[in-house]
Amino acid sequence: MSVLKDHPAEEDTVTLSWRNLSVYAMDRGRRNICKQLINNGGSISVKGAAKPGDLTAIIGASGAGKSSLMAALAFRAGSEFLIHGDIRVNGMPVDSSYMMQNSGYMHQEDIFVAAMTVIEHLWFMARMKLNGNMRVLDIGRKIDDLLKDVGLTSRRDVRIGSGIDDKVLSGGERKRLSFATELLTDPKILFLDEPTTGQDSHSANCLIAQLKSFAAKGRTVLCTIHQPSSVIFSSFDRIILIAEGRVAFAGRIDQAVEFFASQGYECPRKYNPADFLVAIVATGSKNENGEEVARKICDVFSTSKICNEIDRVLEKQIESVCVSNSPFPAVRLTFLRIVGT
Ligand SMILES: Nc1ncnc2c1ncn2[C@@H]1O[C@H](COP(=O)(O)OP(=O)(O)O)[C@@H](O)[C@H]1O
Ligand SMILES: [Mg+2]
Repeated sequence: MSVLKDHPAEEDTVTLSWRNLSVYAMDRGRRNICKQLINNGGSISVKGAAKPGDLTAIIGASGAGKSSLMAALAFRAGSEFLIHGDIRVNGMPVDSSYMMQNSGYMHQEDIFVAAMTVIEHLWFMARMKLNGNMRVLDIGRKIDDLLKDVGLTSRRDVRIGSGIDDKVLSGGERKRLSFATELLTDPKILFLDEPTTGQDSHSANCLIAQLKSFAAKGRTVLCTIHQPSSVIFSSFDRIILIAEGRVAFAGRIDQAVEFFASQGYECPRKYNPADFLVAIVATGSKNENGEEVARKICDVFSTSKICNEIDRVLEKQIESVCVSNSPFPAVRLTFLRIVGT
């Protein structure tokens, strides 16, 4: 994408890592926990990492906890959630203000002013998000480049609309406009909640290709997706499979298929591996032994070699901070972070 620096300096790239993560839904008065959405397994730590250059997808059945996990990592969970855990960037603990400044977050449901045109929306958002000293000419150029990148140049003067009337943006175009809006600031980390939901397969493929190309510039990209086609699935660099708020698998696709086969769940040939993996650990009425299978897979994965690799990445990240002149000498200690309180 022309608007983005081709090769960001190494200090601009971000490895996001987390461990001991729990997400709880609170009652209205925020006094009591009504449900634990992440880390339902109890003692086993929910941990993981997302690296620069990678498109990492959080997959799982509906209600598994994908959005809860991603919103917690992005510090975008609402005040009705309580989050415990250790979230780091390049080994350093981070907070909500870091995430707001350095990450973009594309919500599942986009919120637009229906009366605005595409170009008016982007100018408005540019004024809100970009440095006030940026020259008008440069903002205009940036917006033109973004429109070209997301394929909306011919729709620049079209009203966004509410989806009910004619001559407004389609669902796919709205998603692409959301995406362009997040790219205005060229964030180091980009989070996207169900970016392909509601789109036809061509639009979905195009958006994923754009995400890949954004990641390839050294950005860290995390998205949730609940039913990826096999084409889209094969384009993910890494996946995190969530079942009942726990991690059933995290790693590369080939490792996932191998890991499930080693547990007696061989993916049939010509079957979409995404559908297969999600179905094996799906719980609920359609899947009689689902809970038991999901629990078993999560337990086995937590002690697997692939999961140990995550530990090594986390340790390496933390060590790199301790070796360099860290302004946070105490980060070696395990600590509890409470977000959103
Ligand atoms: N505010 C809330 N209070 C209680 N339960 C919630 C709340 N928000 C989400 N949940 C439940 O938490 C589970 C995980 O939700 P979510 O992370 O949105 O799942 P996914 O994105 O995988 O579909 C679901 O069962 C959902 O119903
Ligand atoms: Mg969701």
